[in-house]
Amino acid sequence: MQGSAQELSGFDLDDYRKMFSLTDRELKKNILDCGARQSSFNAQINKIGGNVVSVDEWYQQDFKTIEKNSKLATQNTLEFIRDNAKDYYNFDQKIDHSKKHQHALDLFLNSYEKGAKTGTYVNYDLSKMPFKDCQFDLALCSHLLFDVRGNLEIEHYQSIIEELSRIATEVRIFPLNNIHGVPYEHLGELMLDWQNKNFRIEVQETEFNSPKFGNAMLRIWNTECHI
Ligand SMILES: C[S@@+](CC[C@H](N)C(=O)[O-])C[C@H]1O[C@@H](n2cnc3c(N)ncnc32)[C@H](O)[C@@H]1O
Repeated sequence: MQGSAQELSGFDLDDYRKMFSLTDRELKKNILDCGARQSSFNAQINKIGGNVVSVDEWYQQDFKTIEKNSKLATQNTLEFIRDNAKDYYNFDQKIDHSKKHQHALDLFLNSYEKGAKTGTYVNYDLSKMPFKDCQFDLALCSHLLFDVRGNLEIEHYQSIIEELSRIATEVRIFPLNNIHGVPYEHLGELMLDWQNKNFRIEVQETEFNSPKFGNAMLRIWNTECHI
């Protein structure tokens, strides 16, 4: 389980804020970070008293292997950013991506072992998780669904979104474009389907503006969850 060179990972709190338009108020809510891998979002928010649970099959590995593969994943992401800077990350040339991703990796690794014991890093399959209905206020999917997996059948996304919208009041997904800059081809069909199931669903502009990945997230509200 090493992750592919085309999967970007290791994003931090600042990236998550921009990808999901998260406000300070929302950051205090119960949040599920889906497919979190070596993101530092969990470590950064829980350190200041927040409530983030990260879920990923990545966490089935022992800590030494997680450490080794997370370092590799960060290295792959940094190589990709370096080789594709203009197409993917020219929205802010001032950022030292290497320092930023290395820092995120350190925060993740330093928080992991304790978090795995206390249940803030958990290994479940996203399409079936042992959480209660509406247990979370927000479920966030960063660089997980449509970007590298944009060629999978619509049923794959439906089953994951169905489970996420069972356990969370709201689901947010970023990006909606795949790594080649192409929007997920069945997005319209998927949105119509969720509207028909009595969910609210919309595409919303975000601050994370990458020429290829775009600047839009998908929001899905579960009208059955009471806030
Ligand atoms: C590209 S990484 C995500 C990076 C992270 N969200 C970030 O922003 O830094 C995608 C992750 O999703 C996880 N994943 C994909 N499908 C999954 C599933 N069905 N159940 C659990 N984890 C899954 C993979 O193990 C991988 O670590």
